Amino acid sequence: MKVAVLGAAGGIGQALSLLLKTQLPAGSELALYDVAPVVPGVAVDLSHIPTAVKVEGFGADALGAALTGADIVIIPAGMPRKPGMDRADLFAVNAGIIKTLAEGIVANCPKALVGVITNPVNGTVPIVAEVFKKAGVYDKNRIFGVTTLDVIRSEAFVAELKGLNVADVKVPVIGGHSGTTILPLLSQVEGVTFTEEEVAALTPRIQNAGTEVVNAKAGGGSATLSMGAAAARFCLSLVKGLQGEDVVDYAYVDIDGGDAPYFAHPVRLGVNGVVEILSYGKLSAFEEKAKNDMLVTLNKDIQEGVDFINS
Ligand code: NAD
Ligand code: LMR
Repeated sequence: MKVAVLGAAGGIGQALSLLLKTQLPAGSELALYDVAPVVPGVAVDLSHIPTAVKVEGFGADALGAALTGADIVIIPAGMPRKPGMDRADLFAVNAGIIKTLAEGIVANCPKALVGVITNPVNGTVPIVAEVFKKAGVYDKNRIFGVTTLDVIRSEAFVAELKGLNVADVKVPVIGGHSGTTILPLLSQVEGVTFTEEEVAALTPRIQNAGTEVVNAKAGGGSATLSMGAAAARFCLSLVKGLQGEDVVDYAYVDIDGGDAPYFAHPVRLGVNGVVEILSYGKLSAFEEKAKNDMLVTLNKDIQEGVDFINS
């Protein structure tokens, strides 16, 4: 198993790479790519941790070498938000970075499973997909927007509110990854009921959790440690799928004829990525309205990504 992390010297990249160094199956390879000159040092640092995962660093001119033979590529490369910015404000800078990296994947490991973390996820995932389509190698089952942070936050907040063991809490989160496009399905949390007031307070708390971190870091970036944990969890789901295990996780994927061209759903994973896009089930009246209300924003975000490659 070879996993490449693109943007590995950044806040998320380093946290994720640490977790992968300690959690990937023995015999795996971890390729760390970044344009920042510190990346070989990050790789040397991690290589001193005694696990059977080989780590190698790749600098700005070695994207091809980092990607060759990769089974999974996780992308946290690009600029994070500062207070006062929306994720959409990052598009101008991050779209070009994602395009270049997607072209590298097409050229070196077009069959890899690709997890996109870089914001705005609603638009960067369509950019990757369009680059693959242009090259004639698109497989919608292999490209994922990583929305796991919304899931783990929901688990943490619900457990805290209800005094539960967080290990027992599962919260479906569908839609996209920004503001109101993030839709936690609190009506489906097993064994837990919420009052209308709780739903009305907890839903925006989850939707604005990224902004909560951005404001708390006061100009020092956005979520990196919780995102590192989320990305590692999602990457390990991809690994299990590649190893033939039956695993279901949430991700923002090309859903071909659903609510929007891309939408976070529960997906069954296997040796070729998505095996099956599962239904998100029955929504409450509150959730149904929130879903319908978000679609204009989500479709606009998606179209911006599509247009970036095609116009
Ligand atoms: P960061 O600034 O700490 O790290 C970004 C890294 O990307 C840097 O090391 C930088 O050198 C590298 N980079 C820039 N251009 C590159 C290129 N062309 N090729 C390779 N590497 C390149 O930022 P961060 O806090 O790690 O956040 C990274 C991205 O992840 C941001 O866009 C942020 O908004 C996003 N993010 C997404 C989620 C999510 O839930 N999907 C959560 C948190 C952050
Ligand atoms: C998050 O949800 O924490 C990330 O998308 C980063 C951000 O800008 O909020």
